[in-house]
Amino acid sequence: MNKIEEIFDSMSYGPAAEQSDYVENWLQEHDAGFELFIDGQWTPASEASEGIVSRNPATGEKLATIAAAGKEDVDRAVAAAAAAFPKWSKTAGHERAKYLYALARSVQKNSRFLAVLETMDNGKPIRETRDIDIPLVARHFYHHAGWAQLMTSEFPEQQALGVVGQIIPWNFPLLMMAWKIAPAIAAGNCVVIKPAEYTSLSALYFAQLCAEIKLPPGVVNIVTGAGATGEHIVSHPDISKIAFTGSTPVGKRIRQITAGSGKKLTLELGGKSPFIVFEDADIDSAVEGLVDAIWFNQGQVCCAGSRLLVHEGIAEKLIAKVKARLENFRIGNPLDKTIDMGAIVDPIQLERIESLVAAGVAEGATKWQPGGVECPKEGCFYPPTLLTDVESSNIVVREEIFGPVLTTMTFRTLNEAVALANNTRFGLAASIWSENINRALEVSSQLKAGVVWVNCTNQFDAACGFGGFRESGFGREGGKEGMYEYLKAPSPEPKNTINVIETPKALDDSAENSSTIGIDQTAKHYIGGKQVRADNGLTALVVDHQAHCAGRVADGSRKDIRDAVEAAAKASAWSSATAHTRAQILYYLAENLGRRENEFQQQLVSLTGATKKSAKIEFNATLSRLFTYAAWADKFDGAVHTPPQKNVALAVNEPVGVLGIVCPDIFPLLSIVSMIAPAIAMGNRTVVVPSQRYPLFATDLYQVLETSDVPGGVVNIVTGQRDVLAKVMAEHHQVDGLWYHGSAAGSAMVEHASASNLKRTWVNDGKAIDWLSNPHGEGRQFLRQACQVKNIWLPYGDESAGPKAGY
Ligand code: NAI
Repeated sequence: MNKIEEIFDSMSYGPAAEQSDYVENWLQEHDAGFELFIDGQWTPASEASEGIVSRNPATGEKLATIAAAGKEDVDRAVAAAAAAFPKWSKTAGHERAKYLYALARSVQKNSRFLAVLETMDNGKPIRETRDIDIPLVARHFYHHAGWAQLMTSEFPEQQALGVVGQIIPWNFPLLMMAWKIAPAIAAGNCVVIKPAEYTSLSALYFAQLCAEIKLPPGVVNIVTGAGATGEHIVSHPDISKIAFTGSTPVGKRIRQITAGSGKKLTLELGGKSPFIVFEDADIDSAVEGLVDAIWFNQGQVCCAGSRLLVHEGIAEKLIAKVKARLENFRIGNPLDKTIDMGAIVDPIQLERIESLVAAGVAEGATKWQPGGVECPKEGCFYPPTLLTDVESSNIVVREEIFGPVLTTMTFRTLNEAVALANNTRFGLAASIWSENINRALEVSSQLKAGVVWVNCTNQFDAACGFGGFRESGFGREGGKEGMYEYLKAPSPEPKNTINVIETPKALDDSAENSSTIGIDQTAKHYIGGKQVRADNGLTALVVDHQAHCAGRVADGSRKDIRDAVEAAAKASAWSSATAHTRAQILYYLAENLGRRENEFQQQLVSLTGATKKSAKIEFNATLSRLFTYAAWADKFDGAVHTPPQKNVALAVNEPVGVLGIVCPDIFPLLSIVSMIAPAIAMGNRTVVVPSQRYPLFATDLYQVLETSDVPGGVVNIVTGQRDVLAKVMAEHHQVDGLWYHGSAAGSAMVEHASASNLKRTWVNDGKAIDWLSNPHGEGRQFLRQACQVKNIWLPYGDESAGPKAGY
């Protein structure tokens, strides 16, 4: 026993372990193994298997055996969810809100139990599970009780999807479960969820809570198992949506498996987030922020600030402070309340960290670990690690390590910092440290990341959407945008079938010699504001509805799409133009199109066989649509969230970037304008493949674009074969998103081909929509697809202002 004065001298802590006997008792009650939670009942896995042993990573001790669900079990769980869906989705929002509220309260009442269980199962410090994970779980259910209550007023015309399959990782087991279940059931869906095989225990305890609060059977089904169980969920035909959080390779595989299935998909994948410190930062705060950014949860955080980018003038000082801080780190028993870092989740993950660090050192990195810090001999521990002397090409800079390992690089200028920060295929989060708010916000706007923390890091809240750009996945969790991921606006088949004209069966060059209708033209592509011939010099015959020659258009190829994408990428000034400017240009487009009313209406009649009346209707609807998006350009703005922390989060609707747009044949004038207008209204630059059957409307349209001050490169038009060109865009890494209206097979192809770079796609699954109808042919659903939300977190409060009255 240390004497008091000795303790004062060394300032060393004694152990302060959290009590865990009640959790151990619960585990002992399930000594025979945990079953699956299906239809409100505990049920064994149908296939004979030894199950999966869940261990405490801090000690290696066995905690429990969990069932490995097979295909039959997943089928049973999906059937239970499907059976519960009709009633649950029709249950009044207020009733659903009561269940979510009951879950929130139940989590709060069991919070200490859950925190201890989570720490034992995952290895993360009790300090984190107690103060961060579990309170956020409760907060999520509270927040979504609110959305359930407000469903009819805030989501009119939206409906639940059906059965939702959800697959979650091991780094925040219960929190990820709450992020998935709360919005899904608030919206009226029923779920089949699979926790990660290393960390299923808190989910199984949560199942008990669902039963206790009498959540109707089948609304939440929990099936445990490894990747194979996950794949059964992903490929199940009766599931309407998959929500996945985990590694990028598995995310890509899920994109491929679900391609063409009509399943909605959200992917929250990995990251390699920058932590940028400018020379005017408050260095001590930045050091504390950095400790939180990369050593929180042993660095096993998708949005971990794993790449330190520091201004070269302060690099030495900052690194010295970080090292001093790490020398006092405490690593050990995660149940000890004074521990900084706990255990890595599993020996497999530990091996992955060790091998990536070794590879980084082999490529030239210098490794530093605190000499005075000892890791326990037993269990899965890895010391906090700093890697300096790294190049951008080093594996440790490129790959997600998912461990307590920080790489360090320096920069000289703001532009260099932004370029280094964006030099990654991921785009999940970023943290910026500067006392100059103008600079911090300027950098925030330039970073390709779904979440940006200014002078703070790792802030999360149920009200603020979370999710990434690029290979960090797509879709958002949390906030209103997160609710939309679990809803759909049913779109009836178009009732009015004017202009839905099949391509004539016998279409050959003889058409060219048949009686023409007097439109003799060979239209070129429109790229970078200029009319250009097809790269291969080829043209394609275009015929009218009677198979008479109507002209020729350039027959686009891979090279033409590449040129168009390059032109669109260069036109980046459009994305930062003011919304007012974009609105003005859209109005001007309408004005100039209006001047050519007779010509376009005549085209519609002669090419598509529309009656004069229906041609007039389509034309007028087209003008109205341009006005709609001119109106929206400066109104579809973001939100200011007020999370419980002392922060505001600015939810900014940013353009997706370069958007590919592939148009249908029906309503060929109205549909192309209905797709281009929302895209450019929100600041995207577009590469448009017009109707393959009726491309001449598009080629006439570019004359209108030219006279309407639309800057070159903002709308690029490449004519040719729809699916050939769509595939090139799906595979092109510089195309950030792709909208496709064509066949079911084409939709599947687009989703499949886009898996390699995980771009956002929006396809019609071969279903025509009624472009004339305002609820379906225009509005917020188009605007949401034209944007990605970036949440910028800003702290506020200055202690020099003194205490304030408040609650
Ligand atoms: P993982 O992606 O394999 O596992 C995540 C979840 O997906 C687990 O529930 C797993 O059972 C399930 N799963 C695995 N294969 C599947 C498949 N083919 N179909 C459906 N579900 C499947 O991640 P893992 O192997 O546990 O970790 C490897 C690396 O992934 C980590 O080192 C880290 O870099 C990254 N990772 C990223 C996470 C994030 O939050 N972004 C979370 C977990 C891992």
